[in-house]
Amino acid sequence: MEIIKEIEKMQQISREEAAAKKSIGFVPTMGYLHEGHLKLVEKAVDENDITVVSVFVNPTQFGPEEDYDEYPRDLERDLSLLRERKVDYVFYPAVEDVYPEGYATYVQVEKGTDVLCGRSRPNHFKGVTTIVSKLFNMVIPHRAYFGKKDGQQLLIIRQMVRDLNMDIEIVACPTVREEGGLAMSSRNKYLSSKEREAALVINRTLEKACSWIEEGERDGWEIKKAMEREIKAEPLATIDYASIVSRETLQELGVIKGPIMIAIAAYIGSTRLIDNVWLEVT
Ligand code: PAF
Repeated sequence: MEIIKEIEKMQQISREEAAAKKSIGFVPTMGYLHEGHLKLVEKAVDENDITVVSVFVNPTQFGPEEDYDEYPRDLERDLSLLRERKVDYVFYPAVEDVYPEGYATYVQVEKGTDVLCGRSRPNHFKGVTTIVSKLFNMVIPHRAYFGKKDGQQLLIIRQMVRDLNMDIEIVACPTVREEGGLAMSSRNKYLSSKEREAALVINRTLEKACSWIEEGERDGWEIKKAMEREIKAEPLATIDYASIVSRETLQELGVIKGPIMIAIAAYIGSTRLIDNVWLEVT
């Protein structure tokens, strides 16, 4: 496994691999890898000749009051996990190279970015789509792997790839959960054991919403209210949103139908967690 820090070197390697008819799978990450990332990596290794994983904590997707400085980092541990999974290249660029002085260009998707997480994190998705397009230009992959856990991010990236005619297949991978149902996230590290227990309310509420829909409920506002009640009943949780949206428009649905995403964001103590499930409703 080779660790590449220089952007030009990464591009050169990718061009050479592609010229040798090798397919390149890419997993963008912010490091501090957990089982959820590793499932993406294993799938990329399975499906491609060459796998590149980037480790880059992207400053432009964090708000001024958010946890960019405190975001957990452990490169040595990440490298050893990636080495075990037979990754070919780890791309680890420096912030000053990715955003040099005078940097002035951003990629903005103008649909679905001001709802759900976009409402409480106003410039978050602009930062995500900017870094993901830059990483795509640096790694030049054939396929890129994203987890459904960040469902809104995944749908926005698909929209960007479609709109900008990027010749990259976006592969969506299932959410990986801890025992008890808590979705894996690097931020779970911030939770005390009491908070970890309290955080289960998120997945439990999503499961309840699924079963109400399975039983025939189609009123999106009723289910939204019921989800909010469930979360509010947990003393350590503060709700950001509980929503049922169309996966095509990311807009909330009064009448539940079609490809939908049920999504929740809540603070457990001071840690903001998100989770969602995808359903096809007839
Ligand atoms: O999902 C993440 O970890 C990040 O948003 C991503 C896609 C690596 C961009 O920084």
